[in-house]
Amino acid sequence: MSDILPDEAAVWRRAEDNARAIFGQYGYQEIRTPILEETGLFKRSIGEETDIVQKQMYSFKDRGERDVSLRPEGTAPVVRAYLEHSLGNVLPVQRLYYIGPMFRNERPQAGRLRQFHQIGAEAIGSPSPYLDAEIISLMMGILAACGLGDVELKLNTLGCAKDKKAFEQALKKALAPLAGKVGSLCEDCAKRYEKNILRLFDCKNDGCRKALVAAPRITDYLCGSCSGQFDRIKELLDAAGIKYTLTPSLVRGLDYYTGVVFEASHKNLGSQDAVAAGGRYDNLIEGLGGSSTPACGFAIGTDRVLLAAKGTEIKKAGLDLFFIGLGDEAQKKAFSILSALRTKGVACQMGLDEKSLKSQMRLADRVGAKKVLILGDEELKKGVALLRDMETKTQKEIRLEDVTDTHLW
Ligand code: HAM
Repeated sequence: MSDILPDEAAVWRRAEDNARAIFGQYGYQEIRTPILEETGLFKRSIGEETDIVQKQMYSFKDRGERDVSLRPEGTAPVVRAYLEHSLGNVLPVQRLYYIGPMFRNERPQAGRLRQFHQIGAEAIGSPSPYLDAEIISLMMGILAACGLGDVELKLNTLGCAKDKKAFEQALKKALAPLAGKVGSLCEDCAKRYEKNILRLFDCKNDGCRKALVAAPRITDYLCGSCSGQFDRIKELLDAAGIKYTLTPSLVRGLDYYTGVVFEASHKNLGSQDAVAAGGRYDNLIEGLGGSSTPACGFAIGTDRVLLAAKGTEIKKAGLDLFFIGLGDEAQKKAFSILSALRTKGVACQMGLDEKSLKSQMRLADRVGAKKVLILGDEELKKGVALLRDMETKTQKEIRLEDVTDTHLW
């Protein structure tokens, strides 16, 4: 568990602020759940036979002899809160996010801590592939805003519970000749073979990896509806320009997943290279006592993101417009326009001093503004301003009276 010292804390704040800004753009609302939960919640959701539950939880009895654990992840607590407070009655689809510490008693190494931090989201209430694509796009957007525009996104599907079962059975059959032989699977995988065969894919042991090369693939066991759903998600990601690598061996270390699963990794990290991961979990809510409710989500490992992004400046995200008014009159005009824009929900700021246009442009870039509006004497006389797109580096004239019509930008 590590301390976050003042210099680092500023970087953490910036990353978390950027994440909050992007959650806001996607219409996700924050939820804060306790750090301590009943141990049974994690056993029933993550799965009794997973490494997290078997080996990694900080579990103990409290003074009232209750079995409790420090939360090892955020999905189960959010689902518990969703059920406990009937959040499904408030909105048909709940889009929730959380930022906070998680605890796993793992062997520490670079990028693996016992107290680590996640920025996560859970979208509960719809089976739509648009929601899967939204969740993935949101995750990639936050990673990019934290300085990681170059992650590799691995994508797979586990199919529905039926497909998953058929695949597990096929795997069991195919690997049966190895299972009994001493030494062909590692000790852990020999147990996994009996109790939770999908976990074999998580093993780093060479022998176990070799054994899986010729093993059946989930793609051969998908029902029509699940493969259709997966195709649709891929189409939507293609349309959004989000690149991915199809990875049939990606199974994820938690049992609640069905349908699409994904993981983002970064080349700057060593063996612990996953910076974020998630997927669909359509049976979890019912499994925890609710009615059948489809859902999906992700969690970003903030510690790893900052490790991977070390050296790159994390720009402040979320400013739609930076207004540069050159001269007194222009500044006054800028101030009144910004007030009008803010009531429309536009995030904006203006340059405060008489510095040169060049230095104000640099500032606009540093605060991560998407557009810059420049108003000088000449423009003021003509009743126009220059609107510059910071991404495409193009600019156009816009009439001052039209500036608050953002669709004209
Ligand atoms: P997870 O893959 O266990 O998924 O964790 C997500 C991310 O948290 C990992 O990709 C990694 O970046 C970070 N992480 C996990 N363990 C550690 C550790 N010991 N030290 C540092 N970073 C770590 C989940 O937790 C799911 N709840 C994600 C999810 C949300 N699925 C659906 N909704």
